[in-house]
Amino acid sequence: MPSPVCTEDQFIDLCRLHRSVTLVANALKLSERAVCARRRRVERKHGIRIDLGGTGMQPSPDKRPRQVRAAEAALAEELRTIAPKVATSKAQREKMRAPSNRPDDIEHFPSEWRYRMTVQDGTVVIGSDAHYAPGTISTAHRALVHLTAELKPVAVILNGDIYNASAANRHPRIRWHKPPSVKAEVEVCQERLGEIEAVLGNGKAIRTWGNHDSNFESKLSHLVPEYEGIGGFTLWEHLPRWQPCMSVFINDRPGGLVVKHRFKGGLHAPQNNALWAGRSMATGHLHSQKCYPLTDYNGTRYGVDLGCMAPTDADESFHYAEDDPRNWRSGFAVFTFRGGELMPPELVTVLGPRAVWFRGEVLTV
Ligand SMILES: [Fe+2]
Ligand SMILES: [Fe+2]
Repeated sequence: MPSPVCTEDQFIDLCRLHRSVTLVANALKLSERAVCARRRRVERKHGIRIDLGGTGMQPSPDKRPRQVRAAEAALAEELRTIAPKVATSKAQREKMRAPSNRPDDIEHFPSEWRYRMTVQDGTVVIGSDAHYAPGTISTAHRALVHLTAELKPVAVILNGDIYNASAANRHPRIRWHKPPSVKAEVEVCQERLGEIEAVLGNGKAIRTWGNHDSNFESKLSHLVPEYEGIGGFTLWEHLPRWQPCMSVFINDRPGGLVVKHRFKGGLHAPQNNALWAGRSMATGHLHSQKCYPLTDYNGTRYGVDLGCMAPTDADESFHYAEDDPRNWRSGFAVFTFRGGELMPPELVTVLGPRAVWFRGEVLTV
C-alpha cells in the first residue's frame, strides 16, 4: 500500500469539513475510490462513523460557482497546513474515542439524545442550573460536593445550565454590562466539575443539555459552520468526563425517573411534568425548587423542580432579571432507589451562606 498523503487525524478533519467524497478526493488529489476505501478503514479502526454526505461511490457533481469552489479548496489547503496545530492532540483524541468516554456509546435514539441507566439499589444526586460564575462558589455547590462524598451515589447528574453563556448568548448586550468571557466561564465549569469528580470515585458523571449550555455550540455552528469537527468546538471536549445527553431515563419503565432540563412551564410545571410524562420527572430551568407527589391508579410518582445551584441573588449570572423578586430556591435533590423503585425524593435546600437543610438537619458546608 502506498504511504498516505495525510495522517488519519488530518483525513478525519477533511472529511468533517467537506462532507463530500468528491471534495475530499480533490483536496487530497486522490481518486474517490481511494477516499471511500480509506474512510472504511478509518471507521473500522477507530469505531467511528465518518459522514461524507451519503454519496458513497456516486457523488453528485459539484455545481457550485467556481469562486465558491476555489475558496473552499484554498480553505482545505490551509486546513491541511494548520490542522495539526489547532486540532486536539493525538492523546486527547484517543481518550475521547475510548469506549467508556464517547457520546456514541450512549444507548440512545438518535445520537446524544436519551441516556438510559438502571439503578436497583442506590442513590443518584441531581442538581441543576448552577450557572457557574467566576469568583463565586455557591452554597448549593459546596453541599453537592459534600453529600456526594458522604452518600457515594452511583451517579451525579447536572441537569443543564452549568455554563451560563453570559458573553455568547443570542440576546443583545444589556447597556455596557461587562459579562465574564467565554474562556473564564468554561474554566470555572472545569474547576467546579473537577471538585465533584474528585469525590465521585467510580460514580457516573452525566450532564444534560440546558438552553444556556447549548449556546456554546449553537453560536459556533451558526457563525462558522465550516469549522465543524475542529478540536474544542464542542462543550463536551472541555468536560470530557461528563456524559452529555438530552435526557436521562433511570429504570426505563413505569415507576422510573426521567431527568431533563425542562418540559412544562408555569407555576405547576413539576406536577404537569409528572402528569404528562406518566413517569416521575426531575427538571430544572425554572429555579423554583419544590416536589409534587401525584397519585393515581398506577401509584405515586413525583414531579421535582430541582431549584438552582446558583445563588438566587447571583446578579452576575441573572443580570437579565433586573433585580426583580424571584420565586426561586437554591438547592438540589437526592433520589434513592430500593429494589428498582424510586423512594420519595429528598430536597436539599439552601438556608443561607454555608447552610443547607437535609433530612431534618441543618448541615454546614
Ligand atoms: Fe437556568
Ligand atoms: Fe434553563
